[in-house]
Amino acid sequence: MADPISVLGIAGSLRQGSYNKATLRAAVELAPPGMTIETFDLAPIQPYNEDVKQRGFPPPEQELRERIRTADALLIVTPEYNRGVPGVLKNAIDWASRPPDQPFDGKPAAILGASPGMIGTAVAQYELRRYLGVLNAVVMNTPSVMISHASEKFDAQGRLTDQPTREVISRALQALADWTRWAAQARR
Ligand code: FNR
Repeated sequence: MADPISVLGIAGSLRQGSYNKATLRAAVELAPPGMTIETFDLAPIQPYNEDVKQRGFPPPEQELRERIRTADALLIVTPEYNRGVPGVLKNAIDWASRPPDQPFDGKPAAILGASPGMIGTAVAQYELRRYLGVLNAVVMNTPSVMISHASEKFDAQGRLTDQPTREVISRALQALADWTRWAAQARR
């Protein structure tokens, strides 16, 4: 049997009724056998301030770094704001990326996103891919999961009810498992 895979899931929205948080909850449910997805809530991450960092990473930012470091892979679910990555997610990446030993280096990752709009966070996802590439994360290419018209795909409780979307998330998680094992083998 293949080694288990631990994934850290992060949604780039603070909103309680967030479609992206709901997508992450769906991913937790849909994880294939052998994969566990734990989540990190970005609410306690403060705006980046180099003066604060100079005094040492505050506990939530330190915890975020440690949890990225110890996960086998990352699953980032991003909203799109003004055709880009929301500030809360970029800010968290900025905190986690600071030296020493930035934890994205060599980390397998997959990106998902949901929007009520027509293009399902496509532009934000490509921007996020660029940030993660700069940090040498190893971002999976396909299948892409860009959930458009999100208001039609979740119920009032925030459960993903659209079956084709559930299936593409399942396929993406299986691909992330394969991608993570492939990356681990390449490092040996
Ligand atoms: C948005 N929204 C949005 N949607 C989109 O598809 N492309 C965009 O460029 C933007 N821009 C944008 C800017 C700002 C400041 C806000 C607040 C919103 C709408 C956005 O997709 C919607 O609010 C989602 O519901 C946000 O994700 P969560 O919070 O549901 O996960």
